[in-house]
Amino acid sequence: MEKLMISGGRPLRGTVQISGAKNSAVALIPAAILGETEVVLDNLPLISDVATYAEILEGLGAKVRLSGNQVAIDPSELKSIPMPNGPVKKLRASYYLMGAMLGRFGEATIGMPGGCNFEPRPIDQHIKGFEALGATVTNDYGSIHIYAKELRGAKIYLDVASVGATINIMLAASRAKGITVIENAAKEPEIIDVATLLNAMGAKIKGAGTETIRIEGVPTMRGCRHSIIPDRIQAGTYMIAAAATRGNVLIDNVIPKHMEALTAKLQEMGVGIEEMDESIRVTGGSNYTNIDVKALVYPGLATDLQSPMISLLTQASGVSMLTDYVYSNRYKNVPELLRMGARIRVEGRSAIIEGSKLNAAKVTATDLRAGASLVIAALTVEEGVTEITGVEYIDRGYDNLVENLRNLGAEVWRETLVPAE
Ligand code: EPU
Repeated sequence: MEKLMISGGRPLRGTVQISGAKNSAVALIPAAILGETEVVLDNLPLISDVATYAEILEGLGAKVRLSGNQVAIDPSELKSIPMPNGPVKKLRASYYLMGAMLGRFGEATIGMPGGCNFEPRPIDQHIKGFEALGATVTNDYGSIHIYAKELRGAKIYLDVASVGATINIMLAASRAKGITVIENAAKEPEIIDVATLLNAMGAKIKGAGTETIRIEGVPTMRGCRHSIIPDRIQAGTYMIAAAATRGNVLIDNVIPKHMEALTAKLQEMGVGIEEMDESIRVTGGSNYTNIDVKALVYPGLATDLQSPMISLLTQASGVSMLTDYVYSNRYKNVPELLRMGARIRVEGRSAIIEGSKLNAAKVTATDLRAGASLVIAALTVEEGVTEITGVEYIDRGYDNLVENLRNLGAEVWRETLVPAE
């Protein structure tokens, strides 16, 4: 186990390359098992969630070759093996194996997913979707068992526009008989990315990125080559870090359209933003005004960016308010920021943040984005070294974080955690 050490107070300067999207990769990798031949994914993020997924597919008999930012997945020898325990428990997105295995074999047994448990994250809409497609779903001692003699297309209305449920239903419905229509589907860019891969594999999906998705099931699917979209949350995290340290950073390999809600909010605070075709320059200001922020489903500001945003808002003058309309209590970073001298109050689903200077402290990341929030907070601290434990959460989703920050001039390093700590 390691901890991150950050001696802050330096404005970030330079260029950072954004890797492929974690939340696409963890859906595209299981999607690859729906066909019979090899899928190659480029622009792969080098993060522990991807390594865990590779291990899961190998356990099912797939041949997985990782080389640099590419993975080749050959699912021709894949077997329908129950996975009640093991690596599926390390990963929230292992729930995509339910849709993918159901589509490929008509059955799946998967242990309840682990991953970032910042609050209870139900999967009732996934299950409702599988049942609508004709599957029987049972929960046996913490494992979900799904079985369908035959998957049949259906009309499914999602009670919440869930990213995971939308993708899981697309996966299973791609191999169902007939037409499936998902109403109130999630519209996040990662959904379009998954539909693009599935269509290249032979599926017939229309409307991904809108609230109505139509999937015409096909009897067979095949391999293909696909490049993963840039990670908009990673990009947003560096944009926020550049602003918080009052730096000047070119964020490269991004789709500026995906960042619109964040760029609007940063500009409102007084951060300079220049958009190019595939990059964004962020120039920090000397004074930031307080703002109100709402985390919403796409195209609103992503809930995954609200924790980093809280750290930035500690650097604004006056009182800001952030409300998360996706998760009601995703504020595990707040007690840690309080240790660093922040003035933040959580009321209901909102955080009220008063501008203040932060100081170095020993803090713990309890989930991925809370970890990103602490890194940004630490980068603003002018004296002393902040120690962040729980680095394994941060490694789940940020490719090359330490090297990237060092290239931008930050003083960041890893140290081995001695057990007594
Ligand atoms: N929800 C339900 N029932 C369901 C599914 C979701 O009530 O069956 C609720 C959730 O409790 C939440 C809301 O619906 O309040 C949205 O959840 P969603 O299903 O969209 O989230 P998810 O698919 O589990 C993905 C990302 C998360 C990101 C959310 C929201 C992946 C692997 N994870 O999770 O990313 O926060 O969408 O955008 O794609 C992260 O990257 O740190 C992360 C947590």
